[in-house]
Amino acid sequence: MIVAPAYAKINLSLEVVGRRADGFHDLVSVMQTVSLVDSLEFEPDRDLLFTCSDRTLTTGNLVLRAAALLRDRYGVQRGCRIHLQKHIPTAAGLGGGSSDAAVALITLAAMWNVKLTCSNLLDLAAALGSDVPFFLWSGTCLVEGRGERVSPLRSPDRQWYLLVNPRIEVSTERIFAALPVSDWTDGTETHALARDIVRADIVGIGRNGLQPTLFRLYPEARECYDAVTAVSAHGALVSGSGPTVLAPFPTQVDAMAAFQCLQGTGYWAMVVAAQEPAREYTPCR
Ligand code: C5P
Repeated sequence: MIVAPAYAKINLSLEVVGRRADGFHDLVSVMQTVSLVDSLEFEPDRDLLFTCSDRTLTTGNLVLRAAALLRDRYGVQRGCRIHLQKHIPTAAGLGGGSSDAAVALITLAAMWNVKLTCSNLLDLAAALGSDVPFFLWSGTCLVEGRGERVSPLRSPDRQWYLLVNPRIEVSTERIFAALPVSDWTDGTETHALARDIVRADIVGIGRNGLQPTLFRLYPEARECYDAVTAVSAHGALVSGSGPTVLAPFPTQVDAMAAFQCLQGTGYWAMVVAAQEPAREYTPCR
């Protein structure tokens, strides 16, 4: 049996720069994998079988779609028994489903002996979802276009984050649909953040163009953001389309102190480190 880790991501900055002809939006974002992780188990089988620790996530799971896509595109006759142990909150802006799908593609291609270039993998990943391509690189990356243009950046020295989630799920589609053009920006702040990371190993946070729309549609998300801001000396930002809020800290001790302040709020909270996955799970790096 192969056991593979699938790391969550956070967006250290996310700007929406325009709308595309295909209805999706062009983005400029800095994405970072962190030490919050799902686990995938793969066992060879004649059939394709999928189970998940959270039964509500079994039907139509992106892992199963990734496996089916790989089989169909490359005429694979073999199967696999796949079990997903879920730890990353879902519909939370942490890319859990996308990370699971990327790890499934990479691991099954190896198991089934399908020889894929980075470009082949990128095509499959982009067909599964906008966040999936990033996970072929992982670490710290500048991500552009719909999410398919990924440029790895230098990974910073140990960096800690407090993640806080108000235990609600949000619809990314609904947030993009309600996004006013006045919240589009030109990507300058995110590009500046990416330059700082490369030049000076400084990891700050930028802006998130989806944040005002999230707060308008889901008022609980704003309350959570305000609670995190109150315990963070270095600011806070919603990750992706939310509602998870991240706050950066220079040390684990500082992050844990902020975490303690949120005990009793009922929020899901966790201290994580910036994390670079092993080379076998980052085929495009
Ligand atoms: O690609 P994914 O399935 O993650 O996207 C979910 C929804 O978010 C899409 O249906 C689309 O409405 C919106 N989206 C977008 N532009 C992006 C990514 C997502 O408009 N770059």
